[in-house]
Amino acid sequence: MRIERATHSRIHEIDFDNLPFGETFSDHMFVCDYIDGEWVDARVIPYQPLQMDPSASVLHYGQAVFEGMKAYKDEQGKVWLFRPEDNHARINKSSVRLAIPEFPKEFFMEGLNELLNLDADWIKPGIGNSLYVRPFVFANQPAVSAAASNQYQFIIICAPVKAYYSGEVNVLVSEKFSRAASGGVGYAKAAGNYAASFYPAQLANQQGYQQIIWTDANTHEYLEESGTMNVFFRINDTLITAPTTDTILDGITRKSVIQIAQDAGITVEVRPVKVSEVIEAHKNGSLKEVFGAGTAVVVSPISGIGYRGEKYSIAPVKDSYAKRLKDSIINIQYNRSEDPYGWRKEVVLVTA
Ligand code: COI
Repeated sequence: MRIERATHSRIHEIDFDNLPFGETFSDHMFVCDYIDGEWVDARVIPYQPLQMDPSASVLHYGQAVFEGMKAYKDEQGKVWLFRPEDNHARINKSSVRLAIPEFPKEFFMEGLNELLNLDADWIKPGIGNSLYVRPFVFANQPAVSAAASNQYQFIIICAPVKAYYSGEVNVLVSEKFSRAASGGVGYAKAAGNYAASFYPAQLANQQGYQQIIWTDANTHEYLEESGTMNVFFRINDTLITAPTTDTILDGITRKSVIQIAQDAGITVEVRPVKVSEVIEAHKNGSLKEVFGAGTAVVVSPISGIGYRGEKYSIAPVKDSYAKRLKDSIINIQYNRSEDPYGWRKEVVLVTA
């Protein structure tokens, strides 16, 4: 792989204690091109603007998918990724749905490794600090004919981050707008899924909610996912979450939470969750917790649900499942506990 180092690092200009999520990027990026049916010229180069033709098809038809993952540094300075093979598998699953050629696993892993080696200083130790890693792929054939592109670029960029949400998270149940319909691209991390969520989210913001909680497009009776998170409901002592279908993202944090909860002896039901059931549980006092799970948010408690003009507040509980599960997951991620699952993968740092 070709490596071109930045001549000057920007790291000293960064205030690592005040990082709005995903607005500051590290010194390098991984790039690989798809030309004439092949992925070629894998390289790590200084972080820089892209050159793209105004007719590049992604700008017209949104043929693009992405991933989100994080690199963590432990107290000894070792660097870790969490289930990176799952991100690789998922970006390819998303790509297939968007008619984008799959990206080879060796290139993905090697690209990550080289990039994180060069930018390891951007990963700060300490719980809550991480380097958000954003692999993405987009169509860059200069062509406005509405068909799959014959050229793509695969890129990985990295952003040092702290928490995704800085305050309370309240979510508004949407019965009007839909995120995904059966047969569509809801299970893929397609760029357009996020674009389509911004307008409903803006309307929710105006009503004091940070995010939308989506319902199924057919009946609007079942809760699906919220913003960038899969959602869990604790009714009495049972944890309930929707199954992943073709409308719901197969979250890596989601499946980790399910596994850890089950192994901790918590009853987990993976089944469709009715809005009416959650509202009823709130009314009769059995809704103890609601929380979201995702790479960016990790595990994030939800403080309130808006539904049909009412706001249902959820007070913090003692012995919170969200807190227990978050602690278990971050202890694995930051190499502070055993990892019985083999989820944590070391990025071996080779000192130059
Ligand atoms: C992630 O959790 O990685 C996401 O996809 C969130 C991102 C849209 C900010």
